[in-house]
Amino acid sequence: MSVSRRSLLKNAGIFGASAAVTGPTMAMSSKPAVDPLAEKVIVDFGHGVASGDPLSDRVILWTRISPQINAETEVTWRICEDVEMQQEVNSGTVKTDSSRDFTVKVDADGLLPNTWYYYQFSAGDKKSVIGRTKTAAETGLDRLRLAVVSCSSFPHGYFNVYRILSERNDLDAVVHLGDYIYEYGVGEYGDKSLELQRDLLPKHEIVNLTDYRQRHNLYKRDPDLQAVHQQYPFIVTWDDHEFANDTWKEGAGNHSDNEGDFLVRKAKAKQAYFEWMPIRNQPEDLGSLYRKLPFGNLVDLLMLDTRVEGRDEQPSGLYAQQIRHDENRTLMGFEQEAWLHNQLKSSTAKWKVLGQQVQIQQLGPVALPDRLGGGISFFLDTWDGYTATRKRLFNFIDDNNIDNMVVLTGDIHSTWVADLAHDPFDKRYYNGDTGEGSLAVEFVTPSVSSPALPPVIGDIAAAALKSSSPHLKHCDMVHNGFFILDVTEERAQADWFFVKTVKEKSTEHNHAISYKTNDQANRLTKAIAPAIARPNTASLAPLESDAISA
Ligand SMILES: [Fe+2]
Repeated sequence: MSVSRRSLLKNAGIFGASAAVTGPTMAMSSKPAVDPLAEKVIVDFGHGVASGDPLSDRVILWTRISPQINAETEVTWRICEDVEMQQEVNSGTVKTDSSRDFTVKVDADGLLPNTWYYYQFSAGDKKSVIGRTKTAAETGLDRLRLAVVSCSSFPHGYFNVYRILSERNDLDAVVHLGDYIYEYGVGEYGDKSLELQRDLLPKHEIVNLTDYRQRHNLYKRDPDLQAVHQQYPFIVTWDDHEFANDTWKEGAGNHSDNEGDFLVRKAKAKQAYFEWMPIRNQPEDLGSLYRKLPFGNLVDLLMLDTRVEGRDEQPSGLYAQQIRHDENRTLMGFEQEAWLHNQLKSSTAKWKVLGQQVQIQQLGPVALPDRLGGGISFFLDTWDGYTATRKRLFNFIDDNNIDNMVVLTGDIHSTWVADLAHDPFDKRYYNGDTGEGSLAVEFVTPSVSSPALPPVIGDIAAAALKSSSPHLKHCDMVHNGFFILDVTEERAQADWFFVKTVKEKSTEHNHAISYKTNDQANRLTKAIAPAIARPNTASLAPLESDAISA
């Protein structure tokens, strides 16, 4: 059947190399009097190091110190070409204090494109471990390999995924699609923290600034999380649990009036996030973290916030199935929608990759065509709850003949591989056998450690969804893991890997399945094998250093 496609910051580092001290979420306190003992304070770099948001000439470097007294403390940073830290490219000294929870963030510039670097912090006579990072290509990139992860609940299991990634030396960066932390108190999420001895701090649900900081602090103490941060730059976005379950712009499913004003809670969660994550602070007028990270001519990575700043409330109640089609509702705010459309149209990169939170594909088991203004979906926290936003995006890429859009998704603790079409349930608009009518593709990553479904139940559910969803090429609801996105001029391929367990420390894992989309095909093809790893030229950073005090 032949059918038409239609019918079918300015870089605002907190302590930049240029000493910029800005940021929408971090009000800097007035400078405290310098404690004469400060330079002699013994500090601890026990939260490791991290880097993130690589551009062609700069990258965010992050650490956190744990001084023994509450005093402003100087931290020196260096970035070098070599792991021996001899060939220095840039360095500086910054100060941190309790106003930012003793975190340190540097936007280290003056770097070369598509180049590996090593970096290290020091304070007093203590040094951090050496971290490794890489800048983005400016032009002419022929291949990009990204690990894609989401949903890392601390009490539910060990971060074996992070350890596995830290030991690979064939990636360029790690994309984390959110639920990096969870807000729940002990036992509130069906967790078995006592069994695994991965006890939460604080023990109660996190609500205020102190709580959110303490939870980030706990996570960043995890050695497997530290290991992957040490080796690769991260590109992150938040999902709901960095705030509270089922967040929208003015509330959350897991927020009640007796927990205070949600907007205050949101602001405090956001402040802690920007303190503790290796993300470049955004200009204040942007109001969110959506941003573009270009990788040469090959990939424009568009990181979205479909969760917090612009999202209308999830449909609920008797009229939920009508509300979800309301043209006046938006998943990400109309400003961000316009920004996304503009980025897609103006991009000169071969691939337009969206890093975002919730599933964009139409979800069964009973889903009638959106275009008829009807249909039933039980997944109203996803794009199914905001069909007008999806329709506007799909119409836009169709009307403008935008090829090679690949959507990366987290949130759902399972693996989904789907073609994206106007109406995948109607053969006039989409052919499930050939993929004809598909506009783009979606790759959904399983969770690092957050709960999936038990084997029998998960397998039955996945089979039912696949049989009723012509666009859903693969679904696994049982396993924890990750995928590697390997992009060349010819195709964008995702290789899923599942870990054997999260209940004990283990790096056992196996390749599960691979799918790709070929240049200008805009539909999925099963790949017979994972992309052949490409060893990096730079050695891994050494795991140990003499830096961390006992
Ligand atoms: Fe999650």
